[in-house]
This record gives sequence, structure tokens and C-alpha cells, in this order.
Amino acid sequence: MREKHIIVAVSAGIAAYKAIEVVSRLRKKGAEVKVVMTENATHIASPLTFGEISGHPVAIDMFEQVHQWDVEHIALATWADTYVVVPATANVIGKIYAGIADDMLTTTIMATKAPKYLCPAMNTEMYNNPITQRNLEGLQALGYHIMEPAEGWLACGITGVGRLPEPEAIVEWLESQMCKSNELEGTTVLVTAGGTQENIDPVRYIGNRSSGKMGYAIAEQAARMGANVILVSAPTSLAVPSGVDFVPVDSALSMQHAVESRYDTVDVVVMAAAVSDFRVLHKAEQKIKKMESMTLELVKNPDILQGLGAKKKHQILVGFAAETEHVIEYGQDKVARKNLDMLVANDVSKSNAGFNVDTNEGYFLYPNKDPKEMPNMKKSELAHNIMKEVVELVKNK
Ligand code: PMT
Repeated sequence: MREKHIIVAVSAGIAAYKAIEVVSRLRKKGAEVKVVMTENATHIASPLTFGEISGHPVAIDMFEQVHQWDVEHIALATWADTYVVVPATANVIGKIYAGIADDMLTTTIMATKAPKYLCPAMNTEMYNNPITQRNLEGLQALGYHIMEPAEGWLACGITGVGRLPEPEAIVEWLESQMCKSNELEGTTVLVTAGGTQENIDPVRYIGNRSSGKMGYAIAEQAARMGANVILVSAPTSLAVPSGVDFVPVDSALSMQHAVESRYDTVDVVVMAAAVSDFRVLHKAEQKIKKMESMTLELVKNPDILQGLGAKKKHQILVGFAAETEHVIEYGQDKVARKNLDMLVANDVSKSNAGFNVDTNEGYFLYPNKDPKEMPNMKKSELAHNIMKEVVELVKNK
């Protein structure tokens, strides 16, 4: 979102207040945001709030001159590289499709060359009305991106489709639409994520601190780049990214089976999972009762990645290394030992990197290239950088 110029256009749906948080979230992601409102929308949400949150004057009136020399609606239309209408009412959708440009919203959207996104929100009957459906289909055919409204309780007192999705979901959708590319079209990418769990008895297990955030961000990014994505995941509390083929697993052995049974059909494997190096030799069938002390015998788990490296054919293999010291040296050893094309070595001793945080940092290591340092950044951003490298590796294969 950084350096993006986004117009958030607000029409007079009762959920207009949710657009305030959309603006705020977009700004937090680094975008510059200007707000356009219809006159009617100002009766529902305050332009003052939108002005404060966006940091720019709100454009409402066609005849009020904000910039001294520019024709305001053209200046805004040229400035924008993304245009999103949230909420988009049946009226505004109809006007846009009919080519009516009689206020700031409808003139700017008609004048801009930026990609356009609509978040329809209205009463269920209005949404299902064939006229609205025809208009939405028509706009979609013209290249407009339309977000499906949510189902739920509506301001008119009924429950049904037509509810404006929550701001978080809108921004996520917008981000995924904006960042779409076809760089990995036709490529199948298998990503592992999360920390495996090795059962001790029916209620206890040996686990680790992996949240799955890194792996899920990679899966999401690969899907945005057009790849067919298989996400093999140990248990996490994360939502499965849309458009990925989800394979839930728990132990290292079940992850190994899920990965190896698909290995021949995939082009890229990214192993972001924290796989337990050991499992319990004798799992108890029943819950183990309290006792003064106990000893668990552990046996070594297979190294899944090393196994894949040993039988690599056409695949590109990307591993991770969770290190606390000698990050490059230990990582480089894993590149060679596991026959990898790339390894992300993260220093998990830092509080803002590695396990169960939203940011990460480290080095990209290769078998025959100098390391590339990755400064601290959001996991989503690191995932983007990793997948950019993967695109190059696929190209040069
Ligand atoms: O999930 P998060 O909370 O977002 O945290 C992200 C992360 C810290 C888990 C992730 O960035 C990471 O470093 N994952 C790899 C952790 C790890 O197991 O590192 P390792 O150095 O022990 O293993 C090296 C590589 O071999 C890894 O790709 C691992 O998936 C793989 N491996 C390890 C052991 C094993 N038995 N089989 C394997 O395939």
C-alpha cells in the first residue's frame, strides 16, 4: 500500500461510518488517502472526521474551489491510482453504470483511469433487484472490481445479504485485488506453515511457538501472484487465505506424508513450518495420570526438507532456518545439506523477528550467490520479497 494514492468515495449507505475505519487502516498501511463524499453521505457520517482521519480536505461540492488552479474533479481523478467506493449504494451503482456524472463522486470516478473497486451495501431486496444485479454485472464486464456484500443483520431490521463487510475485510480484499499479478500463473506452490504437534497422550503434545503467520503470508502472496497454492498447515488460529488449497496436518509425520504425496506435481516448495525434530516413542493411549516424575523417550523425526532435497527433480526448494547465532554460517550449511535453491535465515532471538510476531528479518541465502540482507519488516512484506525471488528462480530454471 506504500505510496499508493487511494480515493475512498463514500455514498449514502447507513454503513458509511465504517468507511472511516477503512480510511484509517489504509493510512496505517502507508497509503495516501483522499475522501470524496456525496452530499447525502454527509448526513450519515461527518466530513470533518473523514478530513481528520485522511489528513486531506474532503471533496463534496463540485463548485467549491479547493485547489486554486486545478479543476477539482479532474485533479482528483488524475491523482488517484486506486478508486474505491465504500459503501456503494444502489443509486450510485446505477448512476455509474448509466454514465451519469452529476456530483463529485460520479464525475471523479468517470474521469479517473485508476482501477475501480465497489463495495455494495444496501437492503437485500434492493441488492437482489435485477436492475442492481444487471448494473453490477455490467460494471464488472467493464473491469470494475466488485466486493460481495456480507450477510447479516441490516439497518432495515431484517437479516439477509447486503451488509457492508467489516473494514478489516474490505482492506484485505482491496489489498489482495490491488496486488494481484500473473507472475506465477501456471505454477503450483506448496507452502508449509505452523508448528507441528507431537502427541504425548490424548490431551498433551510437544509443540513450538510457531503461529503460522509467516507461512500463511507466503501462501497468500503466492496466490496473489496467480500461483496454484497448496497450504499444508499444522494447527494455527489463522484464517485460511482465500483461493488456496488447504491441507490440515498435525505431526511431523503427517506433514511429511502431505508434502511427499504431492511433491511430484508441484513446482515450488516453501517450508516455513517449524517441524519438531523429535516425537514421542510410545504415545499413551489414555491420559497420563499425575506422578512425581516421568521420562519421555523421544525419537528423531525425519527431516522433511532434506528428504525433498535428496530427490529433487524439476522443483524449486525454499527452506527457512530459525537461528539464534551465526545466522549466515549455519544457514549456508543448511542450503548445502538440504540441496536448496534458497533459504530464509531468520534470527529468532530478536523480539521483533521469528516466532509469533508480525514482523521478521534475516538473510536470503543461495547455493551460489551472495546473501541478501532483509531488514525488519512486516511478514506480509517479507513474503512479497520471498515470492519475488521465487519468480526469478522459476524464470531462470
Ligand atoms: O509461524 P510464525 O510464528 O510466523 O514463525 C515463523 C517461523 C519462525 C516458524 C519461520 O520463519 C521459520 O523460521 N520456520 C522454520 C523453523 C525451523 O524449523 O527451522 P529449522 O532451522 O529447524 O529447520 C530448517 C528447515 O528445515 C525449515 O525449512 C524446516 O521447515 C525444515 N525442517 C526442519 C526439521 C524437520 N524435521 N523437517 C524439516 O523439513
